[in-house]
Amino acid sequence: MDLKSLIRDIPDFPQPGIVFRDITTLLSHPEGLRYTVDQLTEKCAALAPDYIVGMESRGFLFGVPLAYQLGIGFVPVRKPKKLPGPVFAVEYQLEYGSDRLEMHQDAMSSGSRVLIIDDLIATGGTAQATVQLVEKAGCEVVGFAFVIELVGLAGRKHLPDVPIVTLLQYE
Ligand code: PRP
Ligand code: ADE
Repeated sequence: MDLKSLIRDIPDFPQPGIVFRDITTLLSHPEGLRYTVDQLTEKCAALAPDYIVGMESRGFLFGVPLAYQLGIGFVPVRKPKKLPGPVFAVEYQLEYGSDRLEMHQDAMSSGSRVLIIDDLIATGGTAQATVQLVEKAGCEVVGFAFVIELVGLAGRKHLPDVPIVTLLQYE
């Protein structure tokens, strides 16, 4: 399956100079969606996570079906003031801007094995912030999964030395 042909490139979105890698065209393609979730499942199963932690919003789109396939739970990492219970919070940088991420303090028991998933890694700021949230919860990051890696931004250099599953690479 040629997954890359299902990703749409939008130049100068959301600001000049950014080529936006649009996954909505992949999501709406039945075989492409199934193949993507199946590939993530196949490549992540051996890491034996207890939880999938996924970041708002596009991390949810792949994280929930992956957790379902692996028969484990999903924990959302959200943008500020969305989660109703007590949260851990971390500031982070984006390819275009900065923000803050939050996760429920009681989402996982300490010592749990966590796989972090997002649709895309660019600078790695979002994933790095999520690592900090998982560590605040006393849990262990056992791997990462991204559908898309923007290799030129070298985001993976900010991540701990655990397996990183990626399905598509762009410069
Ligand atoms: C995008 C993407 C990743 C993040 C990657 O999310 O889905 O979460 O940027 O960038 P980084 O590696 O430089 O941190 P965005 O914040 O645009 O939010 P969205 O998923 O809600 O659209
Ligand atoms: N998130 C950060 N950079 C992005 C890009 N170039 N395309 C899609 N999502 C992104």
